[in-house]
Amino acid sequence: MAGNIKLMVCDNADSVAKEAAKVFSALISDRPEAVIGLATGSTPENTYAELARMHKEEGLSFAKVTSFNLDEYWGLDGDHDQSYRYFMRTNLFDKVDIRPWNTFVLNGKAQFPAIECEAYEQKIVSMGGVDLWLLGIGGNGHIAFNEPGSPVDSRTRLVSLTQETIDANSDGRFFKDASEVPRCALSTGIGTIREARGLVLLATGAKKADAIAAAVNGPFTPDVPASLLQDHPDCTFIVDKDAASKL
Ligand code: PGA
Repeated sequence: MAGNIKLMVCDNADSVAKEAAKVFSALISDRPEAVIGLATGSTPENTYAELARMHKEEGLSFAKVTSFNLDEYWGLDGDHDQSYRYFMRTNLFDKVDIRPWNTFVLNGKAQFPAIECEAYEQKIVSMGGVDLWLLGIGGNGHIAFNEPGSPVDSRTRLVSLTQETIDANSDGRFFKDASEVPRCALSTGIGTIREARGLVLLATGAKKADAIAAAVNGPFTPDVPASLLQDHPDCTFIVDKDAASKL
């Protein structure tokens, strides 16, 4: 089932970042008070660099934008250099004029995770929902830290990471050693993500080709969390040729 997923195949990772940044800048120019969803990982880094360039050189303003991030490692506080709060500060927030108090990232050190997660869901609702959420995809098809098996209606919650995800994040890009990677995270759910009015998923490199093929053309199944976006009314995958190679 190809579902409703719109596909944009770009020549390389650089074009993926430029196309993704264009989609977000168009939204923000049109609706300065937009509520955007953000992702972490290697894939969106260039998109954030391009948005920062647009802010500096083209006057793109985030002054009225509100942002929500997909997830955060459980046990890391926002000053830890592997936390996703820190990633967002260094890759985007410190480089544009977004107001820090309008940037929401789950607190990996919250005393009561269930309360933290419920408050996050309520905050999204109180802001009127997310206009456009940027997503990455794991080699195993995960979105945010919704690993295979996550239900389509899952909400923000404390989750366990799979060994595959722990290994992928300790390959030297982020953590140096698997033993340093937290085993759990707070993650928005698939149900939370599906409620965004628009979704843009990015994938680059051959390592993502199987996951992209399964998400786009495979069955609608929790075994491949990204396939659970197939019936979303406005979901675009922006991928490079390598990530598209098994489509
Ligand atoms: P990556 O992670 O961009 O670092 O490949 C994506 C993901 O796991 O969602």
